[in-house]
Amino acid sequence: MNEWIERGKKVIMNTYSQFPIVIEKGDGVYLWDSDGKKYLDFVAGIAVNALGYNNSDYVKEISIQLTKLQHCSNLYWMIPSIELSELLINNSCFDKIFYCNSGSEAVEAAIKLSKKYGKKFHGENCYEIITMKKSFHGRTMATVTATGQTKYQEGYNPLMPGFSYVDFNNFNELEKVVNENTCAIIIEPIQGEGGIHPAEKNYLEKVRSLCDKNDIVLVFDEVQCGIGRTGELFAYQLFDIKPDVVSLAKGLGGGFPIGAMLAIQSKADAFQPGDHASTFGGNPLACTAGSVVLKKLLFEGILENVQKSGKYLKTRLNELQDIYEIITDVRGHGLMLGIELSCSVKDIVKECMEKGLLIIGAGENVIRFVPPLVIGKEEIDKGIGILKKVLQQFQK
Ligand SMILES: Cc1ncc(COP(=O)(O)O)c(C=O)c1O
Repeated sequence: MNEWIERGKKVIMNTYSQFPIVIEKGDGVYLWDSDGKKYLDFVAGIAVNALGYNNSDYVKEISIQLTKLQHCSNLYWMIPSIELSELLINNSCFDKIFYCNSGSEAVEAAIKLSKKYGKKFHGENCYEIITMKKSFHGRTMATVTATGQTKYQEGYNPLMPGFSYVDFNNFNELEKVVNENTCAIIIEPIQGEGGIHPAEKNYLEKVRSLCDKNDIVLVFDEVQCGIGRTGELFAYQLFDIKPDVVSLAKGLGGGFPIGAMLAIQSKADAFQPGDHASTFGGNPLACTAGSVVLKKLLFEGILENVQKSGKYLKTRLNELQDIYEIITDVRGHGLMLGIELSCSVKDIVKECMEKGLLIIGAGENVIRFVPPLVIGKEEIDKGIGILKKVLQQFQK
């Protein structure tokens, strides 16, 4: 394993500070490193591997598609993208989809669409966008600017013009910043990277009315919290507040790179031929992967599993909070949960890994739990058992 790491260090840019293990294969909710050690995976590629690893239908459908068509230009229609679009549209409040390849690109598309819309209906200066502090929207220049955390922006000035940031869940502050040049407000219904902070329903209701009153595009960034993660297909459904635009990626492809931006008709119309494009967007392999994920979530009980397992995991985390004083909060929805600690989480994450459990941090002092959506009670108990042993070591 060390040999692979040495070889990797020589040729791969130093942007990730990887843990010193090499993951070689996966099955169900387990991963194996190149030395054969087994890990229970509560990370799922950071909320990506919705069906876990090696799901037989997922492998089968993509394999069949692989023998038919691997890529084709968007100058032509393709069956897998039409099928996936129908699944997404028929199960949401949206009318049209634009495909891309990542979460950043999905948010980037939402930013561009909102600017087009603002300028078309409210004049050349209507391009300003308000986002939330502690948000995360990606790493491209526009999306890192949209991200309300300076640590991701250092070294990249000048940033994109026209962005401002307000406290999450603080409607009074938002209302003060909105002006006639605001074209969009972007919100993660549950902030992921920022530390698992859910929006308040009442806040989202007020934001919706504010956007309606001022014809501002309301964008929900559901790259992390969408596609079943909360127990609903879309996170907006959990809060019962309909955005105009949503960005998706991560879980949508279940491990295959895909991003998508969905919009209601009146907003989608702001894009005309030539306004935006992506060579790989709507790739037939990626869309086939997306359709398998969607069908499993909607028709094969996975959404129900997220509700059940999410509730169970939260109960078990609450039990830990009762035992260990270092846990100061338990929050989140479905299988997007976090525990806040009064100490650094870095060593806890490392120690869990040693003991065969993969978990990750988020924000400051938060451990995030975003396991595959197929996880069951037995695996949750196993993971909690390991975490409990580790927390015992860190409790003063
Ligand atoms: C809410 C949200 N938006 C956007 C992104 C960026 O996605 P990607 O890394 O696929 O570009 C992320 C990634 O963590 C995210 O959590």
